[in-house]
Amino acid sequence: MKTHNQNKSNQSTPKNPFDQGYYESAELRTFGFKNVGDNVMIAKNSSIIGLSNISLGSNIRIDGNVVIAAYSGSLALGNYIHIGGGCYLGCAGGITLSDFSGLSQGICVYSGTDDYSGKSLTNPTVPRKYSNVKIAPVFLGKHVIVGSGSVILPGVTIGDGSSVGALSLVTKSLDEWGVYFGTPAKRLKARSKNVLRLAEELMLEASSEPTQQPLK
Ligand SMILES: CC(C)(COP(=O)(O)OP(=O)(O)OC[C@H]1O[C@@H](n2cnc3c(N)ncnc32)[C@H](O)[C@@H]1OP(=O)(O)O)[C@@H](O)C(=O)NCCC(=O)NCCS
Repeated sequence: MKTHNQNKSNQSTPKNPFDQGYYESAELRTFGFKNVGDNVMIAKNSSIIGLSNISLGSNIRIDGNVVIAAYSGSLALGNYIHIGGGCYLGCAGGITLSDFSGLSQGICVYSGTDDYSGKSLTNPTVPRKYSNVKIAPVFLGKHVIVGSGSVILPGVTIGDGSSVGALSLVTKSLDEWGVYFGTPAKRLKARSKNVLRLAEELMLEASSEPTQQPLK
């Protein structure tokens, strides 16, 4: 998979102590992830547990203050994926983000959740036999984008090409190629399929470019 320079931020001088920068593919491959593709960038101030359960395609950027809890379950990211600052991914039931999909900022994706009915104890400090965690996979199709501050609950599939507006709560699966928003998320209208043509154009361009060297 060829790489793209727009995924790189310029180093500012003088050094900004608040900007901890990103780990890149070569270094990430030494950390114990299941797989790391090319041109992967993960902010150094993110918090990621369960590296052997995490598979990363190519052209991925994970920004600052993202928390990924994958000590059980799995996380699979395809190609051309962005996870914006401040997202939380609870991976117990398995989370998949397909090619060209992304989470903007401050989104929580849960593939496991406590029992809120009162029939079981809650939170991870109590022994498993007293709690009743619902575990179910979350799957985001190709070209899905999720708006700021949204929450996605276990068992949800978001069909290819759909978008979810800011501050939405997604409790049930969403069909393909729709624009959705709200609590719970409802379909507003159809979403344009122009992204398919653009992705094809990008893939053609990427296959004809010489492989780019990572920025120093
Ligand atoms: C859902 C969204 C895609 C709809 O955009 P749009 O097609 O341009 O729709 P409009 O702005 O015309 O809004 C249509 C109606 O829905 C309401 N609405 C829009 N987004 C909403 C949301 N997220 N939640 C609740 N209501 C929303 C609007 O107020 C408007 O209501 P009205 O008909 O009573 O005036 C957009 O509003 C949104 O939430 N985008 C996400 C942006 C984001 O999170 N960016 C982060 C950085 S990438």
